[in-house]
Amino acid sequence: MRFQPRLAFSLTAAATVLALLGAIFSSPGLAEKKSDPALDEARKDVKMLDDVYKTAVVLITDNYVTEESDLPAGAAAKALFAAVKEKGWHEVRLLDVSGEPYNDENVPTDDFEKAAAEKLKDGADYYDEVQTQDGKRVLRAATPIPVVLEKCIMCHENYRDVEEGAPIGMLGYTIPLD
Ligand code: HEC
Repeated sequence: MRFQPRLAFSLTAAATVLALLGAIFSSPGLAEKKSDPALDEARKDVKMLDDVYKTAVVLITDNYVTEESDLPAGAAAKALFAAVKEKGWHEVRLLDVSGEPYNDENVPTDDFEKAAAEKLKDGADYYDEVQTQDGKRVLRAATPIPVVLEKCIMCHENYRDVEEGAPIGMLGYTIPLD
């Protein structure tokens, strides 16, 4: 067959357009914009839970914690989170991002937690990823914990030098999606 430059050109152009479209549609940005009611719902749940848990921790610290030997709201929250997880609702982890945790158990461990800690320290007020765990989709989400009360410093001496509003910790959520 005789070489046909115009045909070759249009085939190349068509292939380029297809490749571009493929790249655009498989990019995470657009994929996320696809309708995903379960994801929207889970994000809303995180917002609500985050407000409820943080309000409770502040109320408890404000009203019931007066000495270093008192049960810290953080420890009470961990007990609550364990019960919530046990019942199969969702999972929440109370984590340190200050680099000096009270309890070494509370350091960010997996890739998601480490990435989230970096984003929040950089100033993000929310970070999330959709993951598959044991064959099921879950929303992993993280929200920052700033030093909200002067009283926090009673037990966390290292919070004294933290810039106002900067996160010293985070809550890490795992919410089932389907
Ligand atoms: C009475 C002492 C006390 C007070 C007051 C207190 N904490 Fe804690 N906090 C602890 C203890 C103890 C732990 C470890 C709990 C555990 O892992 O069981 C902890 C854990 C944490 C963690 C998880 C990371 C880590 O350091 O282990 C964060 C974040 C945290 N506290 C934030 C706060 C904030 C914010 C306040 C103020 C609203 C506060 N704490 C007030 C004692 C306290």
